[in-house]
Amino acid sequence: MSTETTGAAPKPRVGFIGLGRMGFPMAANIAAAGFPLSVWNRTASKAEALAAQTGAAAASSPEALAGSVDVLITMVADGRVLLDLYTGGGGVCGALREGALCADMSTVNPDESRRAAAAVEAAGGRFVDAPVSGSTPLAEAGTLTIMAGGRAEDLERLRPVFDAMSSRIYHMGPLGAGATTKLAVNTVVYGLGQSVAEALVMAEAAGLEREAVYEVFANSAVGAPFVHYRREIFLTPDEVPPPFSMVLAKKDLDLALALADSAGASLPQAVLNRSVLMEAIRAGYGEDDMSAVAEYLRSARAGEK
Ligand SMILES: NC(=O)c1ccc[n+]([C@@H]2O[C@H](COP(=O)([O-])OP(=O)(O)OC[C@H]3O[C@@H](n4cnc5c(N)ncnc54)[C@H](OP(=O)(O)O)[C@@H]3O)[C@@H](O)[C@H]2O)c1
Repeated sequence: MSTETTGAAPKPRVGFIGLGRMGFPMAANIAAAGFPLSVWNRTASKAEALAAQTGAAAASSPEALAGSVDVLITMVADGRVLLDLYTGGGGVCGALREGALCADMSTVNPDESRRAAAAVEAAGGRFVDAPVSGSTPLAEAGTLTIMAGGRAEDLERLRPVFDAMSSRIYHMGPLGAGATTKLAVNTVVYGLGQSVAEALVMAEAAGLEREAVYEVFANSAVGAPFVHYRREIFLTPDEVPPPFSMVLAKKDLDLALALADSAGASLPQAVLNRSVLMEAIRAGYGEDDMSAVAEYLRSARAGEK
């Protein structure tokens, strides 16, 4: 791996594609840790903003970025975008340096990870699927949990870069094992999110104060990290920018249900959770956070929608 020396420690050149709600702070933390960083984003203004904030270079295309780095990270909306970058019009594989390490951190189907990996490896690179758990506050704090699939030696080479974004890194097995674990985690997250929304609205309808009830949730048996970091948006949904979107949440449940199908498992609760998300999306909450299921239930109760 070619390196650039900054001070005493040689650090790989890192490329980052996908500067959305999660990717922007993740990339900013890589720059803050001293890695030479280049970025590309479909909407160029986000790459320009990151460059202005951190001193990173803004590349003109995914191809130009791929040709200039040792480690390439993607954090994009879904598997379609991932595969377009690696196997379609994005042109990344044609430009990769020999031995380049690619890590996809998006939430995608394990088969999509494996297809991207096959393209990268045919081009002489290495690939690790490394999705994350934790929302934008943890991305900003650099305390995400990473669950990775691929070769142990590739993960070890990526570890210094991952350490800039995360506080825990788990190696779950071969290619696709990270993506599989992420879909299992999200299946639980959507069950919990749906339960918190329903229970909160029920308690309000029965005459209790939202904030008082949430305070007990946060300090009771259900006080998971999710309940803590979504506190503000559950309490004051109109005042907090959405850390996620319902459209992406439905995508995750579609992926989990497809995985369950192919693995011969059943996810009856996930089927129900997805149908509630779909109702909320149809009612106009698609770009709101998944916690807006509570807003949807409140408005449905009031007969507004
Ligand atoms: N938000 C969370 O709490 C969270 C937590 C864990 C994992 N995730 C997962 O992380 C990934 C990113 O989530 P996010 O919340 O950061 O989403 P986001 O804010 O919607 O960002 C999506 C990124 O993908 C890019 N993109 C979308 N369509 C594209 C296309 N056709 N071609 C090229 N680039 C495209 C977007 O570019 P533009 O800027 O041009 O739109 C943006 O950089 C998703 O897979 C999500 O499921 C999210």
